[in-house]
Amino acid sequence: MKLAFFDAKTYDMPGFDACAKDTGLEIKYFETRLNEDTVSLASGFDAVCVFVNDTVNAAVVNKLYSYGIRLIVLRCAGFNNVDMAACQGKIRVFRVPAYSPHAVAEHAMALLLTINRRTHKAYIRTRDFNFSLQGFVGFDLYGKTVGIVGTGKIGRVFADICKGFGMQVLAYDKFPSPDSGLTYTTLNDLFERSDIISLHCPLTEETRHLINADSIARMKKGVTIINTSRGALINTEDLIQGIKEKKVGAACLDVYEEEGDFFYEDYSGHVVQDDKLVRLIAMPNVIVSSHQAFLTKEALDNIAATTVDNALKFFQGTPNQATEVTISK
Ligand code: NAI
Repeated sequence: MKLAFFDAKTYDMPGFDACAKDTGLEIKYFETRLNEDTVSLASGFDAVCVFVNDTVNAAVVNKLYSYGIRLIVLRCAGFNNVDMAACQGKIRVFRVPAYSPHAVAEHAMALLLTINRRTHKAYIRTRDFNFSLQGFVGFDLYGKTVGIVGTGKIGRVFADICKGFGMQVLAYDKFPSPDSGLTYTTLNDLFERSDIISLHCPLTEETRHLINADSIARMKKGVTIINTSRGALINTEDLIQGIKEKKVGAACLDVYEEEGDFFYEDYSGHVVQDDKLVRLIAMPNVIVSSHQAFLTKEALDNIAATTVDNALKFFQGTPNQATEVTISK
């Protein structure tokens, strides 16, 4: 069984090699991403393994199918980059539904603490023996209201972390969980009452640009917005406008609408051509990380174990229904 592994990074390989050892699964790592230009690399393989910024549109799916590939294993939770309608009846798709909700929720809190208390700037200042506190005034998280959109695995861990800080938690979910112990409200009420809003829902047609000029207009002046979910949950232009007008006090972004062109690559020697990304990074009250919320040892180990298991079970004729992506999921 030969697996073509796209967008491979050095931190992926040890875990996958360890899990695949002596299983009969042979992994070939390609640094390039899967897209219409690179799909031919998958010819001769039995399956492909992809990540968040690989492009698995209808054209790619049809090519993979023509090569005899019947399996896509995603080594992530989100599957918005896979055209599931195109896969229907042709290629089966499996993902890693949960690998460490703690990794993502803890990163969301790390971003919030950083932007609020400016620790990233303090670190650079004191390295230069600049001990001024100018511009470093934050606010207590204690007593503030955090609005959590999407109360699945990650949203709930983030809620628990926020409760530990003594924050008031408001929640919105399309499918609220009665057993979560959370206080649910409408999306508009959450926008209006929250000092901090954190996004933990999937990207769907319904949630695309959930944060836009209209929703920002409803929010409290000075609101902090955290997005560790998917970039297109936010209309970036509207966010930039909201920050310029000082309606939005701060933004913590682990994901970005057009991140596929940049994230995970070193552009430090280039003039970055994406004006919106450059504008965001230039703002003192915005922190951008490169879709790294998942990146803990525990998460990587779980991702490798589940992905290899998904591939092996499929080839053994006992596919794991719990990790299979279907159109309805
Ligand atoms: P989950 O499936 O456990 O929870 C998602 C929640 O969103 C569910 O409770 C669901 O009912 C809710 N939801 C669905 N549609 C909604 C809507 N229209 N409005 C409000 N809520 C809605 O997913 P999990 O594991 O908590 O992950 C959440 C998201 O985090 C993923 O979809 C993924 O995009 C993102 N993620 C980001 C990572 C990173 O490294 N930055 C890593 C892993 C996941």
